Amino acid sequence: MSAATPGPEGSGDTMEQRRVWDLPTRLFHWALVGTVATGLYLGEYRSFTTIELHFYFGYATAALLAFRVLWGVIGPRPSRLKSLLPSPKRLFSYLSRVGRREPSGTEGHNPLGGLSVVAMLLALSVQIVTGLFAQDDGLFSEGPLAEYVSDSTILTMNSIHYITSRVILGLIALHIAAILFYLVWKRENLIKPMVSGRKWVRRR
Ligand code: HEM
Ligand code: HEM
Repeated sequence: MSAATPGPEGSGDTMEQRRVWDLPTRLFHWALVGTVATGLYLGEYRSFTTIELHFYFGYATAALLAFRVLWGVIGPRPSRLKSLLPSPKRLFSYLSRVGRREPSGTEGHNPLGGLSVVAMLLALSVQIVTGLFAQDDGLFSEGPLAEYVSDSTILTMNSIHYITSRVILGLIALHIAAILFYLVWKRENLIKPMVSGRKWVRRR
């Protein structure tokens, strides 16, 4: 769907506005921001009264991930899981142009962005699974599956749960840095489309 309003600076008539992010994907994104940020906070500053809440935010994150995988199979093309994994040719062609001071105008995630989304979804899945087997001795609290495994498995799960939480923080920092790079250097606002659904993309 094209629009009469002018495109991003310097895009001439090579770009048009299209509905790229459907409502479920946008709702998924902003809900995920809420559950992951709160889950990280409640894990970091856990106490007797809040550890249970930390579990619930973990389960809410799990439900969102399950929805996203389903939507990645039945949803529209830009949100498909298949669109997240670029071919090597597409990836290298994108990398050779990424520094150019112009909007990429990709109809969906750019190839590198797609890979970072996959990394984020995988890291969150590891975080949820290890959480189910983790234990906090000090708070006499444990994930619902910890009672079925040995003490050494619990220790391993605790370590992975901690390390993956740092990986997730790193991925979020990269995610926000990439969005700022696009905004400031490439003069392309990716945030607005994640709110309205409409994005400036290259004409086919
Ligand atoms: C806890 C923090 C965050 C997490 C876990 C997260 C996760 C994600 C995920 C999984 C996607 C892919 C969406 C999909 O296809 O389903 C995504 C895309 C996106 N996120 Fe976030 N996000 C976070 C914070 C933010 C923040 C603070 C912003 C705004 C400044 C933001 C802006 C965006 C944008 C603009 C996209 C689309 C990028 C593109 O056009 O390729 N995110 N995010
Ligand atoms: C994406 C979801 C999750 C995130 C982002 C997250 C994050 C965190 C963080 C940052 C910590 C503190 C790590 C440390 O300082 O040692 C933590 C601890 C913990 N989390 Fe999670 N978590 C998630 C899901 C879950 C789930 C689903 C459960 C269980 C149902 C769980 C159970 C625990 C337990 C028992 C601890 C304490 C472990 C210890 O004492 O070392 N987490 N979590």
